[in-house]
Amino acid sequence: MSPDPRGARTPSPTPLAAVWRRARVTRCAPDGALYWDLRVEAEGLPAGTPGQFSLLAPAAPGAWDPLLPRPLSLLDAGAGWQRFLFKVVGRGTAQLAALRAGDRVGLLGPLGRAFGGLERDAEAAGEIVLVGGGVGIPPLHFLARRLSAAGRPCRALFGFNREAEIPRALLAALDVADAAGTEPATRPAAELCTLDGSAGVRGNPVARLVETLGDGPLAIKACGPAPMLAALRAAARAGDALELSLEERMACGVGVCRGCVVPVVDGAGGWRYAAICREGPVFDAASLAASAAAIALEPGHE
Ligand SMILES: Cc1cc2nc3c(=O)[nH]c(=O)nc-3n(C[C@H](O)[C@H](O)[C@H](O)COP(=O)(O)OP(=O)(O)OC[C@H]3O[C@@H](n4cnc5c(N)ncnc54)[C@H](O)[C@@H]3O)c2cc1C
Ligand code: FES
Repeated sequence: MSPDPRGARTPSPTPLAAVWRRARVTRCAPDGALYWDLRVEAEGLPAGTPGQFSLLAPAAPGAWDPLLPRPLSLLDAGAGWQRFLFKVVGRGTAQLAALRAGDRVGLLGPLGRAFGGLERDAEAAGEIVLVGGGVGIPPLHFLARRLSAAGRPCRALFGFNREAEIPRALLAALDVADAAGTEPATRPAAELCTLDGSAGVRGNPVARLVETLGDGPLAIKACGPAPMLAALRAAARAGDALELSLEERMACGVGVCRGCVVPVVDGAGGWRYAAICREGPVFDAASLAASAAAIALEPGHE
């Protein structure tokens, strides 16, 4: 990829406004074969923006297992409430999936740097394309709906392994186009890809993007598995503005423990470590140091 120099700015920490709360669960239900749909409310919870996340601590007060809270991206949010879509992969997410309406859960958020595009005006690169896979899709789904509401149409390419894994809540809020093309509507349009071809286009969303590239510059916003982000970084052209949301295991979530760092370029042509939780999770691809490719974006890093 040739980095777009317009994006090559070193990130700076986001202001920290969140405090720990005991949020009330208003919904926690399975959605599709793999995902859970969780909605919580808490008085004074600030409204979050697409790309931001919250730390959720499922353990009861005084219980210490799991010790660390777990980060989840906002699928939707407003003043006083947040909604998440998550996959059960281990102890923390299994405990979150066991929550029921009326239960309480510890919550710190919204945290981190959001995707750009909502506030940018005409200077933004041409068409906006969202590229997501698996658990990277919830923040992009939120972004697609916000862009649509702001009158900024986007093209969304979302990838899953197979049809049975696609959460219904996700589809309900989108106009899903067939392989022939997208259908702009009041709801944002999305094109689905599955690796086994059981829904939408067979293949992955990066391959689909490359197949359908036009001549104009793109503003690409992506979240998903590290190999997907690495492939996207390699496929982006000079002139495309690429934002990547990175994932790392987190402890404090506020930039203190340094457990979630990634190398970024600094103003003097060198590099430094940035905390993904505080200076990301969304980064301009051009601000990620070349060595980031060998760390957060290397195929197989999970
Ligand atoms: C900013 C951010 C946003 C996220 N948003 C979502 C979301 O919207 N929906 C969702 O389902 N998940 C999301 N995740 C991933 C989620 O945080 C992890 O799946 C969760 O922390 C796993 O906790 P656990 O206790 O269930 O698993 P653990 O018992 O801690 O681990 C189980 C397995 O999952 C792997 N794992 C754990 N954490 C991560 C991670 N961060 N990245 C890659 N592999 C991991 C472990 O290596 C292990 O193999 C996000 C992560 C980050 C950093
Ligand atoms: S989780 Fe502590 S610095 Fe990011």
